[in-house]
Amino acid sequence: MTQEKLNELLKDMSLEEKVGQMIQLPAEVLTGGGLVTGPTGTTQLTDEQVGMAGSVLGIKGAEKIRELQKQQMAKQPHHIPLLFMLDVINGFETIFPIPLALGCTFSPEMAEKACSVAAAEAASEGLHVTFSPMLDLVRDARWGRVMESPGEDPYLNSEMARAMVRGYQGDLRSKEKLAACLKHFAGYGAPEGGRDYDNVELSERTLMEDYLPAYEAAVKEGCRLAMTSFNTLNRVPSSGNKWLLRKLLREKMGFDGVVISDYSAVEEMVFHGIAADAREAAKLAVGAGVDIDMVSNAYAGHLAELVRSGEVPEKLVDEAVLRILTLKNDLGLFEDPFRDVDPAEAEKTLLRADFRQQARETAAASFVLLKNDGILPLRKEPENEAEEGQDSSCSGKGTVPSAGSTAWIGPYVDNHEIYGAWSFPERPEKTVTIRQGVEAKGLPGMSFARGSYMMDKGCATKFGRIPNPSDEQADALLEEALRLAASSQRVVLCLGEHKDLTGEAGSRTSLGISEGQMELLRKVRQVNPNIVTVLFCGRPLAVKEIAALSRALLVVWMPGTEGGNAIADVLFGDRVPQGKLAMTFPRSLGQVPVYYNHFATGRPNPPHEIHLFRNGYMDEVTAPLYPFGYGLSYTEFTYSEVKLDRREMKAGDRITASVTVTNTGGVSGVETVQLYLRDSSASVARPIRSLKGFQKVSLAPGESREVSFAIEEPMLRFYDIDMNHVSEPGRFEVYIGGSSDAENSAEFVLA
Ligand code: BGC
Repeated sequence: MTQEKLNELLKDMSLEEKVGQMIQLPAEVLTGGGLVTGPTGTTQLTDEQVGMAGSVLGIKGAEKIRELQKQQMAKQPHHIPLLFMLDVINGFETIFPIPLALGCTFSPEMAEKACSVAAAEAASEGLHVTFSPMLDLVRDARWGRVMESPGEDPYLNSEMARAMVRGYQGDLRSKEKLAACLKHFAGYGAPEGGRDYDNVELSERTLMEDYLPAYEAAVKEGCRLAMTSFNTLNRVPSSGNKWLLRKLLREKMGFDGVVISDYSAVEEMVFHGIAADAREAAKLAVGAGVDIDMVSNAYAGHLAELVRSGEVPEKLVDEAVLRILTLKNDLGLFEDPFRDVDPAEAEKTLLRADFRQQARETAAASFVLLKNDGILPLRKEPENEAEEGQDSSCSGKGTVPSAGSTAWIGPYVDNHEIYGAWSFPERPEKTVTIRQGVEAKGLPGMSFARGSYMMDKGCATKFGRIPNPSDEQADALLEEALRLAASSQRVVLCLGEHKDLTGEAGSRTSLGISEGQMELLRKVRQVNPNIVTVLFCGRPLAVKEIAALSRALLVVWMPGTEGGNAIADVLFGDRVPQGKLAMTFPRSLGQVPVYYNHFATGRPNPPHEIHLFRNGYMDEVTAPLYPFGYGLSYTEFTYSEVKLDRREMKAGDRITASVTVTNTGGVSGVETVQLYLRDSSASVARPIRSLKGFQKVSLAPGESREVSFAIEEPMLRFYDIDMNHVSEPGRFEVYIGGSSDAENSAEFVLA
């Protein structure tokens, strides 16, 4: 449809019809009852209002979507097609690793491919919009939603933002693409105490410097929607924050797409104590620039009347509706409201072999090897001698371990639910378990046992209590596991936090796994010290004891459909680990929030030492257990000195910083070479270092490669004392290495 025709359509629409476009309802309201449930209770919408709704969320299935589209269009005076939206966060039917794990790949290419697979599957069923990418910077592992973010770094998150938007959206007219929705604008990742939905206090400088870049990168990539956040940002709820939505998002960042509220966030302004009632909330939100009210009753109940009474200019409604119609038009819905969806074709698109292969590669690349004393990779051939490092006095109860035998123990061994909290697979049984992945390798000497329950007796997940096992059942599981551990040469312990302890409303005050699993680990250690721990989690955990008791520790996050295969690939060395932490692992809960790009303070302390009256704690060093950017391989990489082609820079210049990276180990591997800069004297304190570039290099044993980074003046800019985004002359340190605590450095001066 031409712009002219869109304008004509808008002119021809009644006020009720226009308001309808600005309302999003859950699918069940359209297909059934007519009740909207929100925090303020339930409100009856008239059938006419329900019929007028312009978009829907939370529906899957090609037939169902087609049916609802037909039914809804018939009710609308201008037969305007609905927009179908869903949280396609970790993939659709082929489930990919959680976004935090995608961050750990340090591979925007992989993230782009993962999102394009998700888009192809979701679009094949008739969906139009995904509520992704979530680009909230995260520094506090207590917050359950850190799993949905690419991590703690503004630069990495920005690269991921661009890649994800490209992957989902590409050319929006293509039937294989979805419109992307950046979220949650803004600062949702910094709630006080890590408590979900809590207040966020960020100075304007921190907001601009650290939190906005990833959202802005998504905007620059053409992201079509933006979602407000639930939180108050410096005391103002985002859905009523005119400065945030109109000034920053639209004017400064140049966003011209559709702004949608988060789920019932408009009406929640009543609970924030900002609006007296839903009517006032609607007025605030439309004034601030919220185009679609997701699920709450505010727009549905009050917007038309607010316009009639003259309290809201109709112009605001017209602008919002035009943006929504433009999105529908750009998706091609006016020409084909069903976007060519054919249920039989959709069935063939889901879980395609090449999609699964992509998921397998991505999962393997996202695993982070935190510790390995040489026990990994597991040897495939039976061995006759005890493994190096094995203490025979621990081999237990006089049993003789059988050569090459491996016991796979833990509640994750036979578990299909190894995907992130936002996954809704129709066929969860298609997820490859660890046991299936291992068995597919066809190796002798493998045995399997559950060992413990994932949750302790009496503990609850956010969705309620998991049925409690009896003590006898738990004892029997443990006993069987210990027998197996004692009679095997090595043990792979598959442990982790339950997925329902992560994600939205999944905040925690502890960063461990259940006591039952810790007991399993401690007891197995007494009968067999050759432990490889495979750790499932949706956040950085405090793993000091787990690491100490294990010979190797591999973090696999929530790896998705191909998880079991990817884990077997990596443990047996068919793929070499290459993931690097996108979020710091603390030494203890008390260190949280802990992140690499912090400030030096006036009393800096060596991170591994404790000195009184210096920055830090008296009972713990400030260094985290595993820093951002860290991750081992099965091979070793060494770095040469950092070379700079010049030591002085003027605006417009470019300095080339290079290192030679050598694979000094015995197998091929991929290293993520990271560039960090530090501005050592500026008008405001600058982070001790900031990631400014990374490159992945694949090296054969003995192979060397020169890796170069261009450093240009815009990379040195920051918000100065007067909030101008500028660079300042002075000295800069350059660090290049395999993690954020790389020591390899050089210096230059900006004239
Ligand atoms: C979440 C959003 C999500 C929305 C729709 C909200 O509770 O905060 O991230 O997109 O629900 O499901």
